[in-house]
Amino acid sequence: MHVVHTLAELREQLQPYRHPAVVPTMGNLHDGHISLVERAKPLGDVTVATIFVNRLQFAPNEDFDSYPRTLEADCDRLAAAGCDVVFAPKESELYAQPQTFKVHPPAALADILEGHFRPGFFTGVCTVVMKLLACTQARTAVFGKKDYQQLMVIRQMVQQFAMPVDIVGVETRRTAEGLAMSSRNGYLSESQREKALLLSATLRNIVSALRGGSTDVATLEAGAMNALQSAGWQPDYVAVCRQSDLQTPQTGDTLVVLAAARVGTTRLIDNMEV
Ligand code: PAF
Repeated sequence: MHVVHTLAELREQLQPYRHPAVVPTMGNLHDGHISLVERAKPLGDVTVATIFVNRLQFAPNEDFDSYPRTLEADCDRLAAAGCDVVFAPKESELYAQPQTFKVHPPAALADILEGHFRPGFFTGVCTVVMKLLACTQARTAVFGKKDYQQLMVIRQMVQQFAMPVDIVGVETRRTAEGLAMSSRNGYLSESQREKALLLSATLRNIVSALRGGSTDVATLEAGAMNALQSAGWQPDYVAVCRQSDLQTPQTGDTLVVLAAARVGTTRLIDNMEV
């Protein structure tokens, strides 16, 4: 496996290949990321992982500075998973000039849910993903469904800009107890980790109520917010949405339930399709 830090090195490494399959990450890799690499491997003639903590998608009050940077351990895991090339640029390489050209996704998709609570987040994500796909000349790019809205925003960006990239979504990996794998789980204390199981349990309850024929979405959402609050969480949202565009569902729509909540100072997100 080749680990490269500059665009020139990346281009040299990828020059012989026609179909890079790319897994963009911010590092601090867990089993969920490794499942993305495993999914990517048969989809291209070279497998590339990018590791870059993207300042543009963090608000000033968020965890950009403390976000765990574990390049050596990440590279060991990627090598073991059969990744061919790791692109881990410094900020001064990827944003050699201030990134004044940005990709602004439409408000209807990007200012709701995560975008409502993290203004500018999807502009930061789209801008860096557009750039990473260009740098790697990706023909396939693989993202986790844990970031459900992110996956949808990226799919639509690639489609509207007619980028020659297939976007592949991979199911969320969970611990045996049901906690969705996330780099931010590392911030949780033992007791918070226990408490964190309530998020997936709450989503599961809503999914089973909906599958059981419940149609009172507002009551299910409010009940879930209350349950989380009573257990000491600070929930941002629990929302039942239409799968196709994350808007308010109408009768007969295929649904997804999404949630974001803070336990202590750690903000976790999760979702489940119905
Ligand atoms: O999901 C992530 O890790 C990041 O948002 C991404 C897609 C790598 C862009 O920085």
